[in-house]
Amino acid sequence: MGRFCLDIFYWFQWLPHEDRRHDRIGSITMDTVRIFDTTLRDGEQSPGCSMNHAEKLDVARALDTMGVDIIEAGFPITSPGDFEAVRAISQELPRPVTCALARTVGADVDRAGEALKGAANGRIHVFCATSEIHRKHKLNKAKSEIISITREQVAHARQFTDNVEFSPEDGARTELDYLVEITHAAIEAGATTINIPDTVGYAMPEEYGHIFAHVRQKLPIIDAEGIVLSSHCHDDLGLAVANSLAAVMNGARQIECTINGIGERAGNASLEEVVMALRTRRDLTQLSTNIQTRRIYPTSRLVASVTGMHVQRNKAIVGENAFAHEAGIHQDGMLKERTTYEIMDPRDVGIPESKLVLGKHSGRHALRERIEDMGYTVDAATLGHVYDAFKVLADKKKNVYDEDVEALVETELDAQSTTELWKLDNLQVTSGMGAIPTAAVTLSDATGTAVTDASIGDGPIDAIYSTIQRITNVEAELIDYQIRAVTGGKDAQGEVLVELQHRDRRVRGRGISTDVIEASARAYLAAINRIRTLDERDGNEVEVNQP
Ligand code: KIV
Ligand code: ZN
Repeated sequence: MGRFCLDIFYWFQWLPHEDRRHDRIGSITMDTVRIFDTTLRDGEQSPGCSMNHAEKLDVARALDTMGVDIIEAGFPITSPGDFEAVRAISQELPRPVTCALARTVGADVDRAGEALKGAANGRIHVFCATSEIHRKHKLNKAKSEIISITREQVAHARQFTDNVEFSPEDGARTELDYLVEITHAAIEAGATTINIPDTVGYAMPEEYGHIFAHVRQKLPIIDAEGIVLSSHCHDDLGLAVANSLAAVMNGARQIECTINGIGERAGNASLEEVVMALRTRRDLTQLSTNIQTRRIYPTSRLVASVTGMHVQRNKAIVGENAFAHEAGIHQDGMLKERTTYEIMDPRDVGIPESKLVLGKHSGRHALRERIEDMGYTVDAATLGHVYDAFKVLADKKKNVYDEDVEALVETELDAQSTTELWKLDNLQVTSGMGAIPTAAVTLSDATGTAVTDASIGDGPIDAIYSTIQRITNVEAELIDYQIRAVTGGKDAQGEVLVELQHRDRRVRGRGISTDVIEASARAYLAAINRIRTLDERDGNEVEVNQP
């Protein structure tokens, strides 16, 4: 038997015996893998990925529409924002399970329980580190003490809900005997899902799969009582998806993952990759998920847009090049028969064919249809603003594509979550070889009063940003600047995303225009307006330069 066959044999011997037994969540059967999305918790906690309340709700709605089984919405003890996100999502979305994270600390569990109060479908996810490194250097606790607080807090969580998950943090580096012991304790205390995380992305697939097989073999209670085993993999060695698949091939029936694989350090297992791997190789795995795969691409775009974390071009499933065929021999094969070089149909993941949308004579109705086809629901006022911007664009640009319309919609949605305290009225920039980069900017404030100022800078963008800072008097440090062409072609719109640090807060701004210098100014001003909006909301004093 070749190595490949041996691997498959090794995987299959651990598939659950009662393959079709119904378990605790709705219609899920044992050949269905639950998708537990943690974009809003593990994803959001990674640098540069923070989302505001409205953005979290938009993402949660998209995850719901996509058919995610469990949405981990936050870690309520850590901030009022996380508490509110769990509360609002669990109230608004009764279908998916809303999960709240808590350490094995009474106050954490109480706060998670409070956030889930009245929820139709809530879960508390309790975790405690178990590996020797964490026990010694982080917790300074003995094995027995960790077992006893786990028992205590899992039982405590059961007072709020009968849906409790326990994670031995750094489980993949925990001694197997101890992992079995603590898993048993958590199950006895009432945990219904046991998640074994590879917290630091250290495990190899065979090794990680073996942990699941071992725990199942040592604890017959898992299969007997329908306890769900779960994987949670980080991507430090680029193995998060492979490890998640190894776990399910050894009996796990829940995968914890994030959209676009965002998350701590190198990220988490990517939802789109695990789902499409299971679907594409169902012949081998005999496993499915409840995900509406056509919603994958729009959801990926939404998360990229609200986090400002662009997806790399060659990212599997949702990257720009994922279905692009450049080599002549591939193109020739594709024309003869798509399946020669394509193992998935891009339409199955919801990738739109890049359509020529509309021309400058197109009406509001046609624009609304395209916007809705892309997965957005817009009210009349939003449509009106996007339509106005579309008309301006169609005058400047010969062909307006789906991507252009998407950028207009995203910019409008961003603007709606911010009060436009300063508006860009005019911008003139001088730069070039031998010239001192200089920007003259006119902004008008909320009362309509115009202020003009000018500055020099290290380059044209620096000169613009210094001038805007002088006029608005908002001190902020530019910590990220990204620019991309929305479509191909010389007349493409440029999209600029900036991130500013203002006191203890990081704020993003987006600007689009066929002129990238203007897009840069708009992005910066959008971030300044957001800072001012948040400052006013928090009651921070805002000094305004008098014109
Ligand atoms: O990576 C990890 O261990 C976690 C736990 C909280 C599950 O995110
Ligand atoms: Zn994690």
